[in-house]
Amino acid sequence: MDFPRILTGNWGVPDSHRLTVARSRGTYGRLPKALGMTPAEITTIVKDSGLRGRGGAGFPTGMKWTFVPPAEKRNGKPVYLLCNADESEPGTFKDRYLMWCDPHLLIEGMIIASRALDCHHGYIYIRGEFRFVARRLEQACEEAYAAGLLGKNILGSGHDFELSVHVGAGAYICGEETALISSLEGEKGQPKLKPPFPAVEGAWRSPTIVNNVETLSVVPWLIENGAAAYKALGTEKSPGTKLFSVSGHVRKPGVYEIPMGLPMSQFIEEYAGGLLPGRTLKAVIPGGSSVPVMTPAEVAKCNLDYESINTNAGSYLGSGGMIVMDDTTDMVAALTNLLRFYAHESCGQCTPCREGCGWMYQILCRVRDREASEQDLVTLRELADNIHSKTICFFGASAAMPVQSFLTKFRSDFLDRVQGRGAGAA
Ligand SMILES: Cc1cc2nc3c(=O)[nH]c(=O)nc-3n(C[C@H](O)[C@H](O)[C@H](O)COP(=O)(O)O)c2cc1C
Ligand code: SF4
Repeated sequence: MDFPRILTGNWGVPDSHRLTVARSRGTYGRLPKALGMTPAEITTIVKDSGLRGRGGAGFPTGMKWTFVPPAEKRNGKPVYLLCNADESEPGTFKDRYLMWCDPHLLIEGMIIASRALDCHHGYIYIRGEFRFVARRLEQACEEAYAAGLLGKNILGSGHDFELSVHVGAGAYICGEETALISSLEGEKGQPKLKPPFPAVEGAWRSPTIVNNVETLSVVPWLIENGAAAYKALGTEKSPGTKLFSVSGHVRKPGVYEIPMGLPMSQFIEEYAGGLLPGRTLKAVIPGGSSVPVMTPAEVAKCNLDYESINTNAGSYLGSGGMIVMDDTTDMVAALTNLLRFYAHESCGQCTPCREGCGWMYQILCRVRDREASEQDLVTLRELADNIHSKTICFFGASAAMPVQSFLTKFRSDFLDRVQGRGAGAA
């Protein structure tokens, strides 16, 4: 398929992470134009492009930027730009490659975003386990500072932007934006109720924009090519290209950039190489582990855009982390494994999430080990229903939705376990 590689154009180029190579391929070439524009002009391009945040929720990026109060209403407070590089959700592994292969693209995107936001301080908050990527980012920042691309008076434009890499301690919840902010401030990485939204009151109680790595990496292309060129890709409501990380029972797991709207089956077949020989599809989790699972019939009628997956399967595109499961998959074991993750990662603030995730995991262990009854499945469902939407942050729903959807869509697998049927039955 012929389309511009907005995010992956430099992947595979030797030393693509080094400044000289990045510059020779056009990175930072958009800066003079962007720094000559007014903040409003940059924001208008991003708004008109229809770019939606790639961290999972798909919130329109340009619109988010407009929520930052104007200078006269900020009481002298600075604006912060935070790049969310916490990427810890099972099944999602796109941002690490973006930062590893093309750190300067992200830095260029952050400089342009900082100009649009009248912001002079930015942080890349990166997951603790990605120390090797953090070192590469730090090296890229050092190169950019030495070349006058970061710091005071960037390229003589009068715009100042200081950028630091902040390494987290490896907690999934620190990917949630308010927890990320608390962690950056040196507090416990726990989410806060919204409102206030970070754009109005975020880091150090100042207006703060939190954007995903992939979102910010799109911005330079928008400046160079304009909003219309971006809108020409993908679908009307989900424009542009997107990174999809695909894992599980496919021949070619990996990260792929494709225009939004590609049929899901075509993506699995043509990009991920299809299933292993002799296997049939059992299920797909489309958007990172936190979204409802899909059946093969749903996969067949869905395209890879925000609307299609929601309308046709009641699930979400999320971060684009696709987990493909074939007919050898033990769905009970798969869900138990996921819940072990959520039970471990709950930050513990809300009772339904703190207690409920642990209970769901314990019940699932008993279902998996054939020690549970049908009544336990009822309890499991009730627990999930009582966690969803009853917590401070979306983590609770993220843990509940896999349980609800697995129990509904693959009910017979669970009944087999509690009624003594299926593989492994005595
Ligand atoms: C439990 C939880 C974990 C999250 N983890 C991430 C993450 O690792 N990376 C990310 O970009 N967004 C993550 N998010 C979403 C962020 O809160 C936020 O919406 C996002 O960074 C905004 O960026 P965007 O507008 O560019 O999508 C998470 C949300 C929740 C509820
Ligand atoms: S939902 Fe879970 S992770 Fe989110 S604040 Fe409550 S306890 Fe913490």
